[in-house]
Amino acid sequence: ERLPALLRLMPKAELHIHIEGSLEPELIFKLAQRNGVTLPYASVEALRAAYAFTDLQSFLDIYYAGASVLLKEADFFEMAWAYLERAAADNVVHAEIFFDPQTHTERGVPFETVILGLDHAVHRAHTELGVSARLILCFLRHLSEEDAFKTLEAALPWRHHFIGVGLDSSEMGFPPAKFERVFARARELGFHIVAHAGEEGPPAYITEALDLLHTERIDHGVRCLEDAGLVARLAASRMPLTVCPLSNLKLCVFKTLAEHNLPALLDVGLCAMVNSDDPAYFGGYLNQNFVETFAALPQLGARQAWQLAANSFEASFVSDEQKAHWL
Ligand code: ADE
Ligand code: ZN
Repeated sequence: ERLPALLRLMPKAELHIHIEGSLEPELIFKLAQRNGVTLPYASVEALRAAYAFTDLQSFLDIYYAGASVLLKEADFFEMAWAYLERAAADNVVHAEIFFDPQTHTERGVPFETVILGLDHAVHRAHTELGVSARLILCFLRHLSEEDAFKTLEAALPWRHHFIGVGLDSSEMGFPPAKFERVFARARELGFHIVAHAGEEGPPAYITEALDLLHTERIDHGVRCLEDAGLVARLAASRMPLTVCPLSNLKLCVFKTLAEHNLPALLDVGLCAMVNSDDPAYFGGYLNQNFVETFAALPQLGARQAWQLAANSFEASFVSDEQKAHWL
């Protein structure tokens, strides 16, 4: 078949990947043993068997438990390097990678340990894999505004090691408005701004992210189609939506991939693209997302493949010169 080959071989950017979500069960067990961390699962198989999610929160509980094995700079390096090697194999030429520092600093791991390990992998990927990568610091929205402010302050000595800030974790009940002042400060500091919105939460959370946080992209955003006025606004402004099909399937945002609204998002002219979100938990890296989604949705063909790849570069935070080179 020619379409899967096109999907696999085309150069693309990945803009929605949580590096903690790339931690494979095998590496979780290896790091647990190396660091003397006891896991509530007897084996790799038992852990994988627990990956049966019913919603976002049921995933997050296991995702944070998995991240508890990360203690040393070498652990963060190893995790990020493994992702970047897989990304290179999928013809990802550029990746903008989320990390959740509060998941680690809460356990006593210094911010410096996290950022230096990740940064080492980012640099090595450029020289050894030809992949350009950048880091985006995400605040956990179930924690307080004060905690987010402290995290931003603690990160400032390493401000040149990340290009933006984002907002993730449990969406329902934690609207973007809660972090308006933190994001205002981040904007003042010159960071790019993104936020998860409209994954499980209502379209009103997307509107809040735009109006109060001044986001440059919306992560997920699939529920925007419930609000025609919002769709018109997103399309007119070419506001990118970093869509994650296998994530939406595994977290029951859509019952089946065949029911995913990606074709509809493209049809109304939105700047959507395909991403993997948490590939170790959701059944596949970027090419797996492309191939399974296109197989389930016959409306998607070569034209849409090209559009999604072009959108990924358009929505990236690289220079216009670099975009011109890729587009
Ligand atoms: N953290 C990791 N993956 C996430 C997702 N899909 N939504 C919210 N927070 C996350
Ligand atoms: Zn996400």
